[in-house]
Amino acid sequence: MIQAKPFLKWAGGKRQLLNEIDKNLPHHILETKQLDLYIEPFVGGGALLFHLLSNYSVKKNIINDINPDLMLSYKVIKLFPKDLINKLKKIEREYLPLGYEQRKEYFYNNLRIPYNKLKIDYTTPNTKTSIEKVALLIALNKTCFNGLFRQNSKGEFNVPFGRYANPRILDENNILNVSHLLKNTEIFCGSYESIKILKDTKAFIYLDPPYRPLTNAGFTKYSKEDFNDNDQKQLAKYFRELNKAKHYLMLSNSDTNDKFFDELYKGFNMQKVLAKRYINSNANGRGNINELLIKNY
Ligand SMILES: C[S@@+](CC[C@H](N)C(=O)[O-])C[C@H]1O[C@@H](n2cnc3c(N)ncnc32)[C@H](O)[C@@H]1O
Repeated sequence: MIQAKPFLKWAGGKRQLLNEIDKNLPHHILETKQLDLYIEPFVGGGALLFHLLSNYSVKKNIINDINPDLMLSYKVIKLFPKDLINKLKKIEREYLPLGYEQRKEYFYNNLRIPYNKLKIDYTTPNTKTSIEKVALLIALNKTCFNGLFRQNSKGEFNVPFGRYANPRILDENNILNVSHLLKNTEIFCGSYESIKILKDTKAFIYLDPPYRPLTNAGFTKYSKEDFNDNDQKQLAKYFRELNKAKHYLMLSNSDTNDKFFDELYKGFNMQKVLAKRYINSNANGRGNINELLIKNY
């Protein structure tokens, strides 16, 4: 089977938790190694998506995220992997031989500024500029501080230069494998509740919303990607609707130790698993912390 992994490092990425998640898949999936329909409404870097597509036979799958640049990159990789690889090859060829100061200049002048200037409608991935935009996004992700993707309120990528001796800007095999595995994937961009959930096929749906922060839980929303307590409550209602439609559901979040999620998901199967967090904008949030896995089966 073709194996692929996330092509971007993403805040909240679930690669450290894959073993736990895999063990907790519904029994019929573990037994048959087959999924009729997989849906991931907060796909981010897609750690579980690629794990499932690499190791299970997935008949149909649907992914979504509210971030348009991210979803554009899934579309471009699916449709135009070779053009993307050529762009990344060129960037890698130009970047790697440079010294520290020159790399820094290249990062800002050739990657970050052009990336922020290119305004793309995510629905038109066949244009040259959208391939360019995605190449810049991947290159920025591999060379920026901490490998984060963060935008300010104007939607501009604002992470500074990162000090990596030998960043792997292009992983050609992985891009080709990702493209191959996404052949049957339906790609959407919007808020999670806009995905039409089919009632006839029973889906396995993995919901991985932005973490509820360990401190300052009721924070104000600064951008549409922020998720405050009210959003967590709305999502719990959505979870109950999906449960009524008899889909298999798994949801993860941080364990904030204050019974917030116990209340929201009362009646469902909830367990704590230990997770290592590598990316967190708040330094206090680093290290080992518990993660919640909530299932309706
Ligand atoms: C914890 S991350 C998911 C990480 C992913 N599981 C992975 O392995 O990389 C949460 C994602 O939810 C997205 N998001 C935030 N609000 C959303 C919304 N209302 N609807 C859909 N996606 C949203 C963010 O853009 C982010 O990519």
